[in-house]
Amino acid sequence: MQNAVITGVASYLPEDVLTNEDISRMVDTNDEWIMTRVGIKERRILKGEGLGSSELGYRAVNELLRKTGTRPEEIEVVVCATSTPDYRFPSTASIISEKCGIKNAFAYDIQAACSGFLVGLQTASGLVKGGLYKKVVLVACEKMSSMTDYSDRSTCPLFGDGAGAVLLEPSEEKLGVMDAVIHTDGVGLPHLLMKAGGSVSPASHENVDRHEHYIYQEGRIVFKYAVSDMAASVLDIMERNNLTMDTVDWFVPHQANRRIIEAIARRMGLSEEKVMVNIEKYGNTSAATLPICLAEWESKLKKGDNLVLTTFGAGFTWGAIYLKWAYDAK
Ligand code: ACO
Repeated sequence: MQNAVITGVASYLPEDVLTNEDISRMVDTNDEWIMTRVGIKERRILKGEGLGSSELGYRAVNELLRKTGTRPEEIEVVVCATSTPDYRFPSTASIISEKCGIKNAFAYDIQAACSGFLVGLQTASGLVKGGLYKKVVLVACEKMSSMTDYSDRSTCPLFGDGAGAVLLEPSEEKLGVMDAVIHTDGVGLPHLLMKAGGSVSPASHENVDRHEHYIYQEGRIVFKYAVSDMAASVLDIMERNNLTMDTVDWFVPHQANRRIIEAIARRMGLSEEKVMVNIEKYGNTSAATLPICLAEWESKLKKGDNLVLTTFGAGFTWGAIYLKWAYDAK
């Protein structure tokens, strides 16, 4: 069986910045609380009438195609991870494909909340490893501002908008997605969800009045699960692959809370400079946090580097992937 390697990465962050000062004018909070409890200074917001997650996703994919010198018609599959699709249907992947001129691919969305990129990477790399397809785009795009309640101080400082995309191709070399440990436990449902707008509680005046079309999160409970479950899957993948704190070159954690990231890095015994952290600038962009980190650190990554990726999100769904980086930055 061949390996599936990432041969390019790109991201897109919208220009508009929402600072802690801006948020403290909307709800009873302040920069000090948000920085100490979460570690976010500002986040990006997609503004503009009629623009949804596909706007972010298509810009990341366009940049990916440009950087990798790939023509749109060469792409065979487009997988889009998002919790904030443009519409309930059709898929955001199909809209991104159309905007990018990708005409010879089939395209579909996956929904694994903040773990969407991790789940997408495992499943999309399977399409390549199995020999079915040679050029697969995985894009994660989130307009989190579309389901954030800016009158709720417990959730509104946390989220931002953004997108990241990778190209997956086959390789004979021992590089790429080496191993994955991914779990789902439905115990998470009452603690982290959007209560209305789905088939259980279709949109109505009443549930909109109750703000049920926004993110609902019981932060303290989610925090505990996030730390223990991500740490366990990271330690599991390190042990399975004989990785140590010395042989892990980069740790790429979901950017939900700086305290969660630091707690896991401590358990891995990793030094700070090996940990990708940009939560301060972008907040939690849900499925998009990992590819946005990879794009930002791309120039530092070397062929053969050992990366450990980890995420935790609604469901709950969480896990870790061991990835061997496949190219030196140009
Ligand atoms: N400003 C000031 N005070 C606040 C704010 C705010 N923005 N928000 C909450 N508080 C107050 C609370 O009211 C509470 O006050 P009280 O003690 O008087 O009741 C106090 O601060 C502590 O609140 P907690 O909720 O316990 O705060 P905590 O330290 O847990 O931080 C947070 C909250 C940031 C949400 C944290 O729990 C967290 O990061 N949870 C995990 C998030 C996560 O990983 N989510 C998964 C991915 S997201 C996804 O899948 C969509």
